Amino acid sequence: MPCQPIWAVLGLISDHFPANMSFLTCHKQPMSPLSHESSLDTISRMLDELGEPRIVITEQFEILHANPAYHAAYGTAAIGRPCYEVSHGYRRPCNEEGESCPLQMTLASGQPERVLHIHRTAHGDEHVDVELMPLADISGHRHLFIEKMKPLQLASSQAAADKMVGRSAAFRHMLLLAQRAAPSSAAVLLFGESGTGKEGLARAIHDSGKPSAPFIVVDCASLSETLLESELFGYEKGAFTGANQRKQGLVEAAHGGTLFLDEIGDLPLSQQVKLLRLLESGSFRRVGGINSIPASFRLIAATHRNLDAMVADGSFRADLFYRLAVFPIRLPPLRERRDDIPLLCASLLERVAPGRALQLEASAMHWLQQHPFKGNIRELRNLLERASLLCDGERITLENLCSEDWSQPAATDTTTRTQFSCGLLPLDQLETQYLDWACQHSGLKRRELAAALQLTERTLYRRLAEPEKKTPAD
Ligand SMILES: Nc1ncnc2c1ncn2[C@@H]1O[C@H](COP(=O)(O)OP(=O)(O)OP(=O)(O)O)[C@@H](O)[C@H]1O
Ligand SMILES: [Mg+2]
Repeated sequence: MPCQPIWAVLGLISDHFPANMSFLTCHKQPMSPLSHESSLDTISRMLDELGEPRIVITEQFEILHANPAYHAAYGTAAIGRPCYEVSHGYRRPCNEEGESCPLQMTLASGQPERVLHIHRTAHGDEHVDVELMPLADISGHRHLFIEKMKPLQLASSQAAADKMVGRSAAFRHMLLLAQRAAPSSAAVLLFGESGTGKEGLARAIHDSGKPSAPFIVVDCASLSETLLESELFGYEKGAFTGANQRKQGLVEAAHGGTLFLDEIGDLPLSQQVKLLRLLESGSFRRVGGINSIPASFRLIAATHRNLDAMVADGSFRADLFYRLAVFPIRLPPLRERRDDIPLLCASLLERVAPGRALQLEASAMHWLQQHPFKGNIRELRNLLERASLLCDGERITLENLCSEDWSQPAATDTTTRTQFSCGLLPLDQLETQYLDWACQHSGLKRRELAAALQLTERTLYRRLAEPEKKTPAD
């Protein structure tokens, strides 16, 4: 396996090389290149200078050295133990526990590998960006590896009222992409169904870079033809009636920070060209102004629409699409991350009912885990907020979640939804309820209804009258 000479891994050892290599200067050693013979001791001393956790491990997962930051985060009894045991509490390597194993990946590829894991740390479970790099032979060991761990700021794997939370595979896949994109200046396109967290992720990406810089949201769905230019680019005094003084636009307000173009798929075709011009030229003119002003912002766009399809049918400009979608990230719908529902509930309850320590009864949680959630996390949050207002104690019941308002017969689909969603019913009973409902609400005569249900009229009568006597032949 091709291994890296020691000096080539300095970037992995430290994000801030050479600033953090102070011990090298105090020992008056040359900074680079270090020889292949550099000992484990030398590497260990370099790692000890760093503020982020680093370990040196063998091909057999054994931790040979851990720096003080690692000890502080993972405990002092790490040396000589397997990395998967200390970082995860596993008894077997990560890949045998259903996780990706960066060591196995590095052994297979011969190059550095990076994965996102949930580690057990002194702060509880944390999302950690793990990077592994092979080293040249040193100290008589066949292969050594440096593992660099960086806790993620983007999201939490524990309940938190003020962060994106999640632990599921789908969520972590999304997180890994966001973690890659965050430190770059590439334009990110967030796409996914309504309520999946696009705006939340855009803010998290922004906050992980320059949290004190401006984060400016542009709601493209609400920008009318006349408003677009003055909202985005601002205007000069006297540009039009009512322009009594110069006004800064949103693009200018985002200077040095992030411009978040929300609902970009709703921007009419006629206005897309104005945005394209801004992105291509990197400058803009205030309405009524002469000077071209340079624009400097990080671009994040979001949409619940299928932009690919819109490009294909001509309703979205291809050139704008490619400007926006340098780094596309899909936000998974809740149905693809149902195992996150308990964690999301704990976090959202903290948010909607702070200080009440509300919990969900098992039947209520079970109901939520079966629910279709067309509105995704926003719908979950609304349900919990409503239930928390209906709940007088500390435990939210099934009735608090799907209380009587939902079963008003006024809206046909609501009635159906309640029947299907409030607990499980024996099939016979469900069929009878459904047939009763169909008789009352379909507006069809019995003969027509029977035809629509592909039954004879006689069978329909019989099932309505005597559901318990029906036979499989029916
Ligand atoms: N992973 C998450 N953890 C906790 N809360 C979340 C998460 N994702 C979304 N939310 C919450 O769900 C709600 C909807 O999120 P957000 O507004 O970011 O969704 P969206 O995808 O932009 O929706 P839309 O397409 O309707 O604009 C917000 O209250 C947000 O805080
Ligand atoms: Mg949104």
